[in-house]
Amino acid sequence: MPAQSSGSLSVRVGNTELPTPVCVASGTFGYGAEYEQLIDLSSIGALFAKSVTRAPRSGNATPRLVETPSGLLNSIGLANVGIERYVTEKLPLFAAMPCPVFANIAGESVDEYLEIVERLEARGEIDGFEINLSCPNVARGLAFGTECAQVESLTARLRKATVRPLVVKLTPNVTDICEIARAAEAGGADAVTCINTLLGMVIDTENRRTALAAGTGGLSGPAIRPVGVAAVYRVRRSVSIPVIGAGGIMCAEDALQYLLAGASAVQIGTANFVDPRTVARVLDGIADYGRRNGYGCIEEFHLAE
Ligand SMILES: Cc1cc2nc3c(=O)[nH]c(=O)nc-3n(C[C@H](O)[C@H](O)[C@H](O)COP(=O)(O)O)c2cc1C
Repeated sequence: MPAQSSGSLSVRVGNTELPTPVCVASGTFGYGAEYEQLIDLSSIGALFAKSVTRAPRSGNATPRLVETPSGLLNSIGLANVGIERYVTEKLPLFAAMPCPVFANIAGESVDEYLEIVERLEARGEIDGFEINLSCPNVARGLAFGTECAQVESLTARLRKATVRPLVVKLTPNVTDICEIARAAEAGGADAVTCINTLLGMVIDTENRRTALAAGTGGLSGPAIRPVGVAAVYRVRRSVSIPVIGAGGIMCAEDALQYLLAGASAVQIGTANFVDPRTVARVLDGIADYGRRNGYGCIEEFHLAE
């Protein structure tokens, strides 16, 4: 029996039902259409699309990807077509997607986030929003996701602009991710995603240069999985909204760690570059584990006390 036929694995985020708990992470699955020959897109819980900003961005100079032990370091720099082309070129792709689609929004100011959310809220093609807080706030210099007051006020502004699910994606590059999660919840978020990439650097010692042209980048892949699982475990116990787990999920066993830590759903990121069918494999494994343990829904996937 295909795992995706199990209605009991569906998950609610805000007012939207994800048909399965296995989603794809922003920036690692394009706009979905690129994968339609490779995977049954209806088996995806939700597509979290690549971040969009107000203006088009060509991203950082190359090289902007380097492999690390069990990881990938990237400094793509939010390359994207900008909101104008997003509306004309990407929304039609989303309308054809057989799974929920969350637009992931990035910005350098509160007004930029707000303008994009308002623009998309007026349209019918997307099911919800994921807010990428890893961007620097030009007014304050620090990434949005590093200050509680900033996270709460941004979330509250965006909350007023949408009736759709509002998911706040947390950066792990903070002192206490639980405080930031509580700020997102206080601002009215329907869920939080844990975690975005970890700040990292690789140095080419022969050339005496950083491997990435931008110097630092974001570390993803199996190397960050224990960090992500711990973040989900702690955040789950700090907020009462659903937590979506992300970071280094390569197989069902990895996803199960997140679910047992308290995640209501997971996102597959870097693994999509290794095997585009990871989502299907992970979903089958979760369904099998649920059947073996007699679990009726995702909330029953818990750590033994
Ligand atoms: C190449 C690449 C591009 C990414 N682009 C984005 C992005 O545009 N917006 C965003 O919120 N996260 C982005 N991410 C972060 C992922 O969505 C995810 O949170 C992170 O990679 C951890 O999951 P993973 O280890 O399964 O990849 C990107 C990650 C990678 C590897």
